[in-house]
Amino acid sequence: MMNHVELKENVFWVGKIDDRKVPFHRLILEKGTTYNAYLLKTEKPTVIDTVDMEFGREFVQYLSELIDPSEIQYIVINHTEPDHSGGMAALAGKAPNATIVCTELAVNELKEMYKLHSRNFLVVKDGDTLDIGGKTLKFRETPYLHTAETMITYCEEDKILFPCDIFSTHVAINEVFADEAGFDITDDFIDYYSAIIHPHRRYVRTLIDALEDMDVRMIAPSHGFILRENIQKYIDLYATMSADTVKDKKVTIVYTTIKKNTKKIADHLKKFFEENEIEPTVFNADKADKIEILDSIKRADAIFIGSSTKYADMIGNLEDVLKDMIEMNLEGKIGAAFGSYGWSGEAIEVIQDYLNQTNMSVQSTSSVIKTTGMTHVEFPVRVRFTPRDEQFEKIDHAAGYVADLLRSAI
Ligand code: FEO
Repeated sequence: MMNHVELKENVFWVGKIDDRKVPFHRLILEKGTTYNAYLLKTEKPTVIDTVDMEFGREFVQYLSELIDPSEIQYIVINHTEPDHSGGMAALAGKAPNATIVCTELAVNELKEMYKLHSRNFLVVKDGDTLDIGGKTLKFRETPYLHTAETMITYCEEDKILFPCDIFSTHVAINEVFADEAGFDITDDFIDYYSAIIHPHRRYVRTLIDALEDMDVRMIAPSHGFILRENIQKYIDLYATMSADTVKDKKVTIVYTTIKKNTKKIADHLKKFFEENEIEPTVFNADKADKIEILDSIKRADAIFIGSSTKYADMIGNLEDVLKDMIEMNLEGKIGAAFGSYGWSGEAIEVIQDYLNQTNMSVQSTSSVIKTTGMTHVEFPVRVRFTPRDEQFEKIDHAAGYVADLLRSAI
């Protein structure tokens, strides 16, 4: 079985082919997978990503056939999940002179996962470049594709993109290049996108924008085939599959508020949905007619219900609306709770309890993590005191998640 393949002068694939039926993200990879790492044997030898932790020692052996690991100057970690960073457990000690290159969010994760507290890290930001002696690496942050700390790396001289999970396939390959596979890999490429990337499709736009600045001639991902023909076809597939195809969706937002902080969340949700071409209707339950609110809820595809907390409970007329919602058939609709609070925010949890008594699909942090692995999308949406930048970002993540559920193409 091959241990390495030269992709371009001094650029090597050094990977592990895993032809088992691999358990992965609650799937079984029937065709297996690969963990692709890369060695750029320049004046400052650089490794890009590693392999699953189970195969770390084997990986270091493969690398050692090409280079003395103590000569490695940089280890670039595009994504910290252990199927790519896991080889650090074996490699870090053998490459004591290597600086670890990653995004700021990745630093602590890597330190904690592999006991790297005393190692040198080089934190890179979107657009930074690194001279590795004869080649230049450019880094673009691609947050949430598919975890928060992810980035992609581009070698300017060789025009090779190393995007880690992105543009991957789960196939235990016999040939590293897609054009030598002996079959059309498109279905495998789409299957991978659907399982791993599509839940995060709202962030694919960032990737497509980043690629506009790059003249990519080869895509060397970290699972499955390397792409060097019809590159644009694969980029276009990501753009097409992540685009919105379902239109004319409606959201109803109902709230009560004490000091207008919960109103600010409702207003921000309204603005978000307007900007995303989903029609929002907003009601203050203490001012609007209840029949009108319930009519709007009947017509909506998603319903957000929010309240400030006073004396550990909801305020105003909201409970009357929720009691009526329990009696309605809301099947197929999406429900979410929100609110601003000062101390414990009990009202938000009480709303969530009411929503759970309806037959809507009620969003919770737990259900999001279990279905997508996302940890940055939180339901209910809880904001302490007045929403500010960070909280608005949190509201956007939740609203974006609902928007994607409403308009999902796959
Ligand atoms: Fe292939 Fe996100 O790990």
